Amino acid sequence: MIQNPEAPAALNAAVVEQLIDGLAESGYAVIPNALPIAECRALALELNTLRHQQELNSAGIGRGRQHVQRRDIRGDRIHWLDRSSDAQRNYFAMIESLRIEINRSLFLGLFELEAHFAFYPPGSFYKCHFDSFEGRSNRVVSSVLYLNEEWPQGSGGEMALYPQSERLPDASVAPLEIVTPKLGTLTCFLSERVPHEVLPTRLPRLSIAGWFRRNASIGGTIDPEF
Ligand code: OGA
Ligand code: MN
Repeated sequence: MIQNPEAPAALNAAVVEQLIDGLAESGYAVIPNALPIAECRALALELNTLRHQQELNSAGIGRGRQHVQRRDIRGDRIHWLDRSSDAQRNYFAMIESLRIEINRSLFLGLFELEAHFAFYPPGSFYKCHFDSFEGRSNRVVSSVLYLNEEWPQGSGGEMALYPQSERLPDASVAPLEIVTPKLGTLTCFLSERVPHEVLPTRLPRLSIAGWFRRNASIGGTIDPEF
């Protein structure tokens, strides 16, 4: 595993400011080169290693007992981060600095990040969805960090972000933003309000999807589901 003792413990202040302004004004922000390249490469290497060791699992949809695998909805393969490597710990340290600033500026009361590596094989996609439903889950802010060294035009696999809404958009609604999944680009958006999709990819596509959660404690027990 690549180790980098010089890894910054926090995201760059200008990056944090852009992310917070975007969330407050538009419900989303897309920041290229948000994390140092060396850190992103270490994460990409780890994801590729997991992939070759067959330690990725087909992702599903739905929570708890409603959890099912639906290749017609999403085709990524995932591995939950568990802070077991320097690369992961550095990532969490940087994202933690964002959580603190979001709480300070936007009063969202975020208390934890859960995140998984995601690998989309060629031909796969993730149809338009919300990451959580108001009152049903405790995911508040979504984040996606892209880990692909090159992303030539015409490779598909972009993330389309749609205008904030309570419902999924119909075919007449144009995306607000098409995000190229290039190494170091970080996208954040409001999990309950921003419909988004991963367009079919032609290349193997690497990323980390993460969610800042709010404590949804019901009857005194913390809800651990996602
Ligand atoms: C997700 C998701 C977007 C992306 O995992 O929920 O929407 O660009 N990912 O990988
Ligand atoms: Mn999503």
